[in-house]
Amino acid sequence: MSTTWRIAGGAPLTGRLRVPGCKGVSHRALVCAAIADGPSRLSDLGTGRDVASTRSALAALGVRIADGPDGVVEVAGAGFAGLTEPAGVLDCGNSGTTLRFLAGLAAGRPFLTVLTGDGSLSGRPMARVVDPLRAMGAHVDGRDGGRLAPLVVRGGDLHGARHELSVASGQVKTALVLAGLQASGVTEIVEPAPSRDHTERMLISQGAPVEVVDDRTTRVRAGAIAPLHLAVPADPSSVAFFVVAAAIVPGSHLVLTDVLCNPGRIAYLDVLRAMGADIVVHPAGTRAGEPVGDVEVRSAPLTGTVITSSEGIVDELPVLAVAAAFADGPSEIRDAAELRVKESDRIATLEVELARLGVDVAGTPDGLRIGGRGSGSGAGVIGAAFTGHGDHRIAMAGAVAALALAGPSTVAGADAVAISYPEFADHLAGLGGQITEEGA
Ligand code: S3P
Repeated sequence: MSTTWRIAGGAPLTGRLRVPGCKGVSHRALVCAAIADGPSRLSDLGTGRDVASTRSALAALGVRIADGPDGVVEVAGAGFAGLTEPAGVLDCGNSGTTLRFLAGLAAGRPFLTVLTGDGSLSGRPMARVVDPLRAMGAHVDGRDGGRLAPLVVRGGDLHGARHELSVASGQVKTALVLAGLQASGVTEIVEPAPSRDHTERMLISQGAPVEVVDDRTTRVRAGAIAPLHLAVPADPSSVAFFVVAAAIVPGSHLVLTDVLCNPGRIAYLDVLRAMGADIVVHPAGTRAGEPVGDVEVRSAPLTGTVITSSEGIVDELPVLAVAAAFADGPSEIRDAAELRVKESDRIATLEVELARLGVDVAGTPDGLRIGGRGSGSGAGVIGAAFTGHGDHRIAMAGAVAALALAGPSTVAGADAVAISYPEFADHLAGLGGQITEEGA
């Protein structure tokens, strides 16, 4: 079903919100619980379809996963040896994280695993994970010589290797850590820049032989993994949509609670602060090796900036681009070619969607140049008809832009948000956002 949001702009957002559990940590918690020696208990897992894809793929690999009382998910880990050959193809849906993580997991297992996904995932690059897994001894094939899904993995008998990756990627690093935990000898992963480090933090908290050598180098040996008991903190990438909305809709004041405050994952807050945003983080301890806190934001005028995709700032770039469009003066996003191979080509889709705001916008091979409405451009545009392009973050970025316009707007293809944040529209309405949903 295709859903359209109708949004009346200009209403300030106020109140407190706990967004659902972090998607990236939820995928990892399910996988790390599945390979642990004993039962794990997980709560506050991400509620979107991507996390559900990981759960059902693990179940198809023979992992017993059950819903217990109070939203707790019980995972009966039986080590890597507890995984069994799936009877059918594993459908990873829209989730690159699921497909790449499971490629690494399957690479160590002495059976056949076939991984596929939807149209978007079938077009995303897989050589970055296939090539290093082959270098460890796994037999992996796929369309276009292994560059595209579906992937066919016949695993087992892995040997450690030193990988010098050409792209920094939390997904690829995790796949190689999962393979390294099943390999003989040492596996070393060296990245050109830091990527998200949840896997290392979680596995170290489970006593696994994973070593963070420096912010670009991870070392892994085979070894046992203790069960995991974790209430997943709120997703900082989902929080980003509310932070930007509160920053650019005058009169707003929000507190986002229990947020995963891993430094890389909240690096986008520093970009917004540099643009003039009024943001305070109130630390509230640590969980499974990760800092947690409340994020408080009040509206403030923003000025344009240069955003370089660095540690952790990947998934927040669409909504940072919206912040730039409402800032005073031009902005530029640089060094972000990875945006082209996400759930949509986000440089192309943002170019289309931001142009609806009446600002000057131009895509570059690895980023965007964005004129700011704060300097007067686009003043005649008080509403727009946005589309999601089948990409959850483009749909939510469109909604944030709509909130900051003075008049009514629509976002078509809003159903894409089910991938990471099905409750988005309800939560926005609970904070004063004037949003209604229509199905077609
Ligand atoms: C993720 C890493 C990032 C991010 C994705 C989730 C992860 O992708 O964009 O949403 O959980 O490791 P890459 O690994 O492709 O950079």
